[in-house]
Amino acid sequence: MKKITLVMAMSQEATPIIGQLALRACNDFVSRTPARAFSGQYKGLEISLVINGTDLTHNVECVGTQPATLAAYEALNHFQPDLLINAGTCGAFAEKGSKIGDVYIGERIRFFDRRIPMGDYEAYGHGNYPCPLAVDLARQLDIPTAVVCTGNALDMSPTDEAILKQEPVVNKEMEAAAIAWVASLWNVPLIAIKSVTDLMDGGQTTSEEFLQNLCFASQNLNEAVVQVMDCLAEKLQLSFS
Ligand code: ADE
Repeated sequence: MKKITLVMAMSQEATPIIGQLALRACNDFVSRTPARAFSGQYKGLEISLVINGTDLTHNVECVGTQPATLAAYEALNHFQPDLLINAGTCGAFAEKGSKIGDVYIGERIRFFDRRIPMGDYEAYGHGNYPCPLAVDLARQLDIPTAVVCTGNALDMSPTDEAILKQEPVVNKEMEAAAIAWVASLWNVPLIAIKSVTDLMDGGQTTSEEFLQNLCFASQNLNEAVVQVMDCLAEKLQLSFS
């Protein structure tokens, strides 16, 4: 696996990674969407990174599943990677052992808010994308795994909470399952790497806790992404020797 594309929602999450991997703005990535791309070489790997971009009407980052779907589509079309990585931040439950700044790799990715109790639509709504390659990598790097649960709300309704709590360890976020669906259409494996900004059972308002911890969680995310890249670069070297 030589060509790796990272898809990320927020520039605040991506900036440490762009700096650490010395990626440069990619001017030949042209899109009708607000997505922006960066690229570079790292230890023999061809790395590209696509962020969802800014919503010009509201002057905020384009978080959520629709921009993530389009960014993943554009990223796969343009860069034709061997592997997609979705790196980002998430909420988690203290009662399941999570702490602010903990980093996880997704063992499985699902939607938690697409509830369609109507025959086969139910399973379609949940998504449920297993990530076997990611599990192998997590074991090698001794990074804990979680079920990455995607929906389009930062807050959590009682119905969402009941569904989320059924999973063993939870990363609640807003993009991964949408990206997993696009990756499945391309038959490209996906690794989700998530860093915890807020504890949904911690007593603090989620938006305040998220903003307070975004920088710290993004630094930890950067360290884990570099660890993953180093491991993939080593595997690439071994495949040539
Ligand atoms: N991203 C970071 N924290 C989140 C949360 N609690 N819910 C959804 N997305 C998030």
